[in-house]
Amino acid sequence: MKKRFTLKNITVSLLALLLLFQFFRIDKSTKELNPEKDFTTLTKMPPELASVLKNTCYDCHSNQPRYPWYTNVAPLSWWIKHHINEGSEHLNFSEWGNYSSKKADHKLKECGEELEENEMPLSSYLIIHTDAKLSASQKTELMNWFSSMRTHESDKPKEEKENEEKEKD
Ligand code: HEC
Repeated sequence: MKKRFTLKNITVSLLALLLLFQFFRIDKSTKELNPEKDFTTLTKMPPELASVLKNTCYDCHSNQPRYPWYTNVAPLSWWIKHHINEGSEHLNFSEWGNYSSKKADHKLKECGEELEENEMPLSSYLIIHTDAKLSASQKTELMNWFSSMRTHESDKPKEEKENEEKEKD
């Protein structure tokens, strides 16, 4: 009787499967880009800091992710695309202009928290994108920027907000 589960058979099957995976390409079409809605434009971010933000966060949190060669290789590409979809769904710097001021404030708060806890950029991303690792000063600068743009609207309960609307400076 023939042996079916030989190392050779298994290897060939795995290779065939991997090859088959390559037919399932990820969607790399770019969404419409409107610089006027972009976070860096709207908050008049200094260019050096804007480029730090773009280099460390925009691959997952914008409508302009970069797609290096390895994003062509399935199943890695599926995993990367999942991060891009999920990341930009939670926070999209390219669509900042569409956020209500309360939502924007809440996102700014979360950005500060994620940076403080070193949760972002995702650690798996930093394995390849070693240049996206924030230095201590870059991290502080970003955190200060996020914090300075806050209105603290999202901290307040609804009723209180309405009463205080006119008192605010
Ligand atoms: C490799 C992709 C990737 C990069 C790069 C990245 N993020 Fe994220 N981010 C995600 C994903 C995926 C989520 C949603 C799941 C989670 O919270 O882990 C997320 C969630 C967030 C959230 C929570 C948003 C919410 O409303 O829940 C904030 C804030 C955030 N990221 C900020 C940043 C900042 C700031 C940077 C750059 C310093 C950054 N991220 C870089 C993938 C990324």
